[in-house]
Amino acid sequence: MTQENWKTGITDIGPGKIRVKGYSITDIMEKLSYAEVVYLILKGELPSKAEAALMNAILVASVDHGASPPSALGARTVMSGGNSLNAAIAGGVLVIGDTHGGAIEQSAKIMQEWAQKDGDVAAVANDLIDWMKEHKKRIPGFGHRLHKVDPRTGKLFEIARRHGFSGRHIDLCQAIESALAEKTGRVLPINVDGAIAAVISDMGFDWRLGKGFFIISRVPGLLAHAYEEMTRERPMRNLGPPPFEYDGPGEREI
Ligand SMILES: CC(C)(COP(=O)(O)OP(=O)(O)OC[C@H]1O[C@@H](n2cnc3c(N)ncnc32)[C@H](O)[C@@H]1OP(=O)(O)O)[C@@H](O)C(=O)NCCC(=O)NCCS
Repeated sequence: MTQENWKTGITDIGPGKIRVKGYSITDIMEKLSYAEVVYLILKGELPSKAEAALMNAILVASVDHGASPPSALGARTVMSGGNSLNAAIAGGVLVIGDTHGGAIEQSAKIMQEWAQKDGDVAAVANDLIDWMKEHKKRIPGFGHRLHKVDPRTGKLFEIARRHGFSGRHIDLCQAIESALAEKTGRVLPINVDGAIAAVISDMGFDWRLGKGFFIISRVPGLLAHAYEEMTRERPMRNLGPPPFEYDGPGEREI
C-alpha cells in the first residue's frame, strides 16, 4: 500500500527552488520588506501598502521594553545560568503568557467575538465589562504597570487611521477603554497588546495567531538581552527581584 503524502501550503522547495506561497525567495528577498514577508507567510497573499505599513508598525512596536519584563528577565536568567544563546531565547519566549505579551491572543478573541454583536460599540463595550465583572475576569489588553498612556497604542491607531484601516475592532477597543474608566473608576489604558489585538482583528487575522505577533516582534529584543548578559555580566549574578523574605514553614524535623 502506498502512503499518501501529507500536504503543506506554505513553501514549495526542490533542488534550487524555494517558493514562499508561490513567490520565489530571490524575488521577495529583493522586493519585499521583512514585515511584508511575515504578512505573506501568515495570510497567504501580498499585503496592500496599508497592510504592509501596519504589519511593520506591529512588529516594531513590541521589539523591546527594557530589562524588567518577565521575558527579558527569563532570557537573562537562562543565560546567566551558563546556557547557550538558543536556550536563553527559548527561555524568554516561554515566559510570554496570557498576562505578558500573550494578552494579544485573548484580547483579539474577545474583540472578534464581541465586535460581531449588534449595536453601537459603546453599548457593546458596556455589556462586555458587565460580563467580565460578573465573571470576575480582567479584560486582556488593558492596564499597564508603567504607562498611564501607552505611547505605542496611539501611534498604531494613528497609522491605521492614516491608511484608512480603522474598523469596528479598533472602535470597540477604544470604547472598552472609556467604559472601563467609567465603570471601574480606574485608568486602565489600552496597552500595546490590546492595540495590536484590535489592529490584527481589523486586518482579518485569526485571534489564534495573536501570541505569534508578539513573539516575532520580541525575539530580537530577547536576543539583545541574552547577548548583553553574555558579554557584559558575570555568570550567575543576582538577577532576582529586590530582597525577598521567606514565609514558608520554619525549621522542622521529620
Ligand atoms: C498589565 C497588568 C498586569 C498591570 O497590572 P497593575 O497595574 O500592576 O495592576 P494590578 O494587577 O495591581 O490591578 C489593580 C486593579 O486594577 C484592576 N485591573 C487591572 N487590569 C485590569 C484589566 N485589564 N481589566 C479589569 N480590571 C483590571 C485589578 O483587578 C485591580 O483591581 P482591585 O484592586 O479591585 O483588585 C494588568 O493591568 C492586567 O492584568 N492586564 C490584563 C493583561 C494584559 O493586558 N497584559 C498585557 C500587559 S502589556
